Amino acid sequence: MKPLVKPLFVVAMCAALSSCSDDSSPDSTSSGSSESSGLVESEFGKMPGGESVKIFTLTNTNGMEAKVTEYGAILVSLQVPDKDGNLADVTHGYDTLEGWLTNTSYFGATVGRFGNRIAHGKFSIDGKEYSLVTNNDPGGIPCHLHGGTKGYDKVLWKGEGFESGSERGVKLTYVSPDGEEGYPGTLTVEVTYTLTDSNDFVWEAKATTDAPTVLNIVHHSYWNLSGDANTSINDHELKLFSDHYLATDAGLIPTGEKAAVTGTPMDFSSAHVIGARVEEDFEALKLGGGYDHAWVLNGTKDGDLVKAAKLRDPETGRVMEISTNQPAIQFYGGNFLDGTATGKGGVAYQHRTALCLETENYPDAPNNPDAPSAVLRPGETYHHKMVHSFSAE
Ligand code: GLA
Repeated sequence: MKPLVKPLFVVAMCAALSSCSDDSSPDSTSSGSSESSGLVESEFGKMPGGESVKIFTLTNTNGMEAKVTEYGAILVSLQVPDKDGNLADVTHGYDTLEGWLTNTSYFGATVGRFGNRIAHGKFSIDGKEYSLVTNNDPGGIPCHLHGGTKGYDKVLWKGEGFESGSERGVKLTYVSPDGEEGYPGTLTVEVTYTLTDSNDFVWEAKATTDAPTVLNIVHHSYWNLSGDANTSINDHELKLFSDHYLATDAGLIPTGEKAAVTGTPMDFSSAHVIGARVEEDFEALKLGGGYDHAWVLNGTKDGDLVKAAKLRDPETGRVMEISTNQPAIQFYGGNFLDGTATGKGGVAYQHRTALCLETENYPDAPNNPDAPSAVLRPGETYHHKMVHSFSAE
């Protein structure tokens, strides 16, 4: 690991960030293995209470650029080359910290303590019942979603940049207090984003606890590989390495049934255009308002990375492949986007203009005896790894 010493790129970065104030420059540091790759740290803005919030810019030797902020351990933007080498940001989000402070869509966020839903906000560990806030109600049925009203996407993490050989990244830490949003146990969480020179963008979460708890820490970026946030993702092609999805009730809580995808519009075991079947009269699609389900990944083995998804935009040729050590992937087709969130460049994000591919444990795993355990005990380490590999074809 190299210490951050060389004051390069800072002026250019601050010019690119509207909220980067003059007085942030003396604190900004950077280094790089070449003119075109490196790591820059600068101020993104201030919390309502006045604390400074950093943003880290990671650049690789192919021109890919990721911006990650300490607020919410959020991926702010990701510039990816298309088949002609043109770079574009392929994520939904905001230009300024202020946008993210009021964001309700979890754009780019690290979601926790438990990503996705917990039925009625209730679960038990060792016979003791816990109650969490219910902050979501699909189908009019209340549930706990994405960690509650102030989940990990709404707290300030502590970031530290690093560089090592052909990769650079940022490690973010957050100590989630015992009782936060109703969860038992003090959870110490470390999230690392890494950009490599082979165009891999890695998100990784580790956590330890001082008392038994449940967790499912999830990365929640919204992707539109065209780089044009005004376009629909219905034209993207998706392959999911899965033969089963988790059927849900009207509250989007898994019923316990692992439903075979064969012969249904849920079959992405070979690549399909997303929009081709999304409007079919199929119960799961009606309940989800489109695709919003967990697919059980084929061939998961404890701790090993398996292929989860391949997404391709036919226009630009951009491809994103995802692998993970988790048992499932949530494919959410941006069904709740309705133009009310105005994001980067003043674009109002319309229905299905981005999608999420969130590797995870099963939604509501704490209440499903057939799900992989979501309980973490003192002495154990939670480890979730998600690799996004970018290419063009
Ligand atoms: C997840 C869920 C969706 C929705 C989004 C956030 O992806 O599966 O139902 O709640 O988060 O809007």
